[in-house]
Amino acid sequence: MSQARVTVDPSYIVGPINRRLFGSFIEHMGRAVYTGIYEPGHPTADEEGFRQDVIELVRELGVTGIRYPGGNFVSGFQWRDSIGPKDQRPRRLDLAWRSTETNQVGLHEFASWVRKVGGELMYAVNLGTADTKDALDVVEYANVAKGSTLSEERITNGQPDPFGIRMWYLGNEMDGPWQVGHSSADDYGKKASRTAKALRQLDPEVELVASGSSHPTMPTFPTWDRVVLEHAYDDVDYISCHGYYEEKNRDLGSFLASPVKMDRYLDVVIATADHVKALKRSDKTLNISFDEWNVWYLGDNLRSFPRQADRFYRTDEIEGDDWPEAPRLAEDVYSVADAVVVGGLLISLLRHADRVTSAAMSMLVNVIAPITTEPGGPAWRQTTYYPFAVTSRLAVGVALDVRVDSGQYETDELGSVPLVDAGATYDAGSGRAAVFLVNRSLTDSLTVTVDLAKLGNVSVLETQMISDTDVYARNTKDALDRVTLQPNTTAQYDDGALTVTLPPVSWTAVALG
Ligand code: AHR
Repeated sequence: MSQARVTVDPSYIVGPINRRLFGSFIEHMGRAVYTGIYEPGHPTADEEGFRQDVIELVRELGVTGIRYPGGNFVSGFQWRDSIGPKDQRPRRLDLAWRSTETNQVGLHEFASWVRKVGGELMYAVNLGTADTKDALDVVEYANVAKGSTLSEERITNGQPDPFGIRMWYLGNEMDGPWQVGHSSADDYGKKASRTAKALRQLDPEVELVASGSSHPTMPTFPTWDRVVLEHAYDDVDYISCHGYYEEKNRDLGSFLASPVKMDRYLDVVIATADHVKALKRSDKTLNISFDEWNVWYLGDNLRSFPRQADRFYRTDEIEGDDWPEAPRLAEDVYSVADAVVVGGLLISLLRHADRVTSAAMSMLVNVIAPITTEPGGPAWRQTTYYPFAVTSRLAVGVALDVRVDSGQYETDELGSVPLVDAGATYDAGSGRAAVFLVNRSLTDSLTVTVDLAKLGNVSVLETQMISDTDVYARNTKDALDRVTLQPNTTAQYDDGALTVTLPPVSWTAVALG
């Protein structure tokens, strides 16, 4: 059995943990909305048609901000389609996912659902087929109290108070050739800048996110981000990151090191933003909105062809319907190994809590999601649900700069990486701390000694672990609870040190106080 050492000191602060770090994302894609959160006629549906079994799971998951309505979808979306009497809303062809959008869930309905789950609505505007005027209109409709034509229309449509949406995304993945309205960094940067200026004139309270590169493997990364920020740095509050990770070629070792990839990606985006800050002699430091992250089994070429959604993303039988309503798209079924990676990605986000102040696990229900539903049937937690729910609940206060001393292993994709990953948080108010630990070894248990002497006298309040002898075990509709959290019964605190044994390919959280 190998050993590792981790040092946690509450005075080594990375930064305060913004609750927005535990955000999520609902796009009008596949079954995220229809038969995901919304299914009139389902035995648990409420008076608005929302599935209450899903609402309960979302609440338990502890998600904060929820980005909506896309994603690639937003680049062809006309927001006015989604308001007013439901029976008069148009049926539109959604080019991003080759689907028919019925608009039965729109801005009002989604805002109501977000209230029910206790989250914050965050809204993306279309900068693909639309421009500044369209963005201004939706902000006026949503946020102006009364007295203008659009705010009065909102009131007539049943919402007397403004929605008060603070966080606005200026388009989505505009660097991607698949994006409707894909443009050059120069064109998008100018559009983002003029749109941001106008939105701020209308509502000075808005927080604005410029679209960064859609993935660090994009050939235009990080030049895209630099050029966009050279135009828009003074006008926006965030630059976005998107990152999806998957096991390729049965190379589990490289896959488990995905958080190292996320670390390196973030370090480049932060350096790029700070480079533009220096160029501009600016006093302002830009934050990062990591508004799409997750494990996603895209395969090698899929990102190049997402418009051919039928061919590459559908997980049901294709029955010749060219523009289906709510088809089964990207319904990945996650394993124990995937959950361990998700736990590690959350550690990476915590490690960058000084700059990543908003993030969204992509997505929430059915489409690359921690929650799965069957139409007319149950809703259940995927493996990836668990590390998210526990981290969101335990990671409060500040993120700490943790020192890890462990063995290394060789990966094909990233070279030599540490066997153990660790993150820690501390809340001075309650005196509570949490330590998050990952063992990436495929074969060996590791005993970790966590030096907590600087925390004073504490005790172990709770342990939670994801581990299984079958690292590819999954929850399915026939085995809803095949994988759940277990306690890590090896955790012991004695005289300023916690010792805990981590099984191979496992994630453990320890709450102390
Ligand atoms: O999350 C699914 C898709 O992935 C989003 O629409 C897009 O932004 C990304 O490529």
